[in-house]
Amino acid sequence: MTKKVAVIGAGPSGLAMLRAFQSAKAKGADIPEVVCFEKQSNWGGLWNYTWRTGLDEYGEPVHCSMYRYLWSNGPKEGLEFADYSFEEHFGKQIASYPPRAVLFDYIEGRVKKAGVRDWIRFSTTIRMVRYNEAKGNFTVTAHDLKNDRMYEEEFDNVVVASGHFSVPNVPAYPGFDKFNGRVLHAHDFRDAREFSGKDLLLLGSSYSAEDIGSQCWKYGAKSITVAYRNAPMAFKWPDNWKEVPKLERVDENTAYFSDGTSKKVDAIILCTGYKHHFPFLPDDLRLKTANRLATADLYKGVAWVNNPKLFFLGMQDQWFTFNMFDAQAWWVRDAIMGRIAIPADKKALLKDVADRVAGEDAGKDAHDAIHYQGDYVKELIAETDYPSFDVDGACEAFYEWKEHKKQDIMAFRNNAYKSVITGTMAPIHHTPWKDALEDSMESYLRN
Ligand SMILES: Cc1cc2nc3c(=O)[nH]c(=O)nc-3n(C[C@H](O)[C@H](O)[C@H](O)COP(=O)(O)OP(=O)(O)OC[C@H]3O[C@@H](n4cnc5c(N)ncnc54)[C@H](O)[C@@H]3O)c2cc1C
Ligand SMILES: NC(=O)c1ccc[n+]([C@@H]2O[C@H](COP(=O)([O-])OP(=O)(O)OC[C@H]3O[C@@H](n4cnc5c(N)ncnc54)[C@H](OP(=O)(O)O)[C@@H]3O)[C@@H](O)[C@H]2O)c1
Repeated sequence: MTKKVAVIGAGPSGLAMLRAFQSAKAKGADIPEVVCFEKQSNWGGLWNYTWRTGLDEYGEPVHCSMYRYLWSNGPKEGLEFADYSFEEHFGKQIASYPPRAVLFDYIEGRVKKAGVRDWIRFSTTIRMVRYNEAKGNFTVTAHDLKNDRMYEEEFDNVVVASGHFSVPNVPAYPGFDKFNGRVLHAHDFRDAREFSGKDLLLLGSSYSAEDIGSQCWKYGAKSITVAYRNAPMAFKWPDNWKEVPKLERVDENTAYFSDGTSKKVDAIILCTGYKHHFPFLPDDLRLKTANRLATADLYKGVAWVNNPKLFFLGMQDQWFTFNMFDAQAWWVRDAIMGRIAIPADKKALLKDVADRVAGEDAGKDAHDAIHYQGDYVKELIAETDYPSFDVDGACEAFYEWKEHKKQDIMAFRNNAYKSVITGTMAPIHHTPWKDALEDSMESYLRN
């Protein structure tokens, strides 16, 4: 095969793409030449932790939005790779909510085994992708950061796997410029111990607010106040945690809310979400979508409707993660290799997108959303040779997880679930989450 494919990003999605091609090669297929460009010096995407915030050593925006002591916020049984189980990697079954370092090790284990590291050009950021109408291919402009050298290269297909939880959505509120403490976005949050003994205000009512608040509570914050814009999270919070309606303004040290109450606070963390941001894509190739399950303009959730030689992985909001990226990557591989035909009629592509949007909009609640994304994963894997697995069983783990959170938000990580890949039950972790201040891989695996 003479085709050449560029993959932008070596996070879980980009690595799924490499593994998909490598698995076809291992089965004897003639695969395209695959070049993956990764701006960081290592793989793993968001899971590749760094202490850095702001700009990196080359002046590039730091990609990492993860922080110290981050544990998986959903059960690992919902994300397990169908072709590489936790038991295969760790030699035993492990507890259900691994800390970041454990999941990084797991992600890395599969691609080390696949032997695809030398397909990746590290410390290389993509600056621009252009479509060449006459040749029917793409010119990619890469910047080799180590050698400070820019170059261009042509590819038949481009797969964008650059993530969408890295560029912060940073709203401004009156008085931020006069506030005496720190105002930071969740993207720049690193160590909860910085806030021990402090009164904290968090904005937002989604996963970052829940988890960063929980971290700060665990590591000794004096109080947590969370201001929601539309609806509270409404868990049974500890005594020193309060949910209040929308922030109106702040002055030097006090925050004022729309119900007329106020609170003196030491720092403000904006847990206000992220933007899909593709500075390397021109107008005719740039995806513009909200963070939702049915993205705009992607046929089958992956192929750019305006030019289906361009693909995007992992652009959906995520209940399913690693296994969904796999389902997408296997599908994209087969589309690129001509095993799956993408309709030539753009109307058919747009209809697929519209049907997906309507399907998501018909759902009423989180249960429907999980089911909807589970069905999407099933749809894609049915069309490729990705190992079939019990997607409904993974949905069940998510439903149980939601219940466990309702029961006790500071203890849901003490539960265990059954693997849908190996059928074995995870052990209960040796230490309750709130008491496990040491979160190294060595400590976590001591079951
Ligand atoms: C704080 C936080 C916690 C999370 N916790 C969980 C969790 O517990 N469980 C879970 O399943 N999911 C979690 N997620 C979701 C997360 O999105 C996925 O797990 C996963 O990391 C997404 O993989 P990705 O490859 O699509 O994107 P990313 O992990 O973001 O990787 C994208 C890669 O592209 C590279 N890149 C970007 N731009 C360029 C460029 N121009 N040129 C070259 N390379 C580029 C980046 O450096 C990065 O390596 C979390 C997300 C956040 C923000
Ligand atoms: N431990 C973990 O594993 C962990 C921890 C943190 C995050 N994550 C992951 O990170 C991803 C992103 O989560 P996220 O919570 O950062 O983003 P998110 O789910 O997109 O939520 C963004 C939140 O910001 C609020 N918001 C947006 N603009 C606002 C404004 N101008 N003023 C006030 N509030 C505003 C939204 O409010 P409305 O609801 O009113 O729109 C929403 O509550 C998720 O996939 C999550 O799973 C995982």
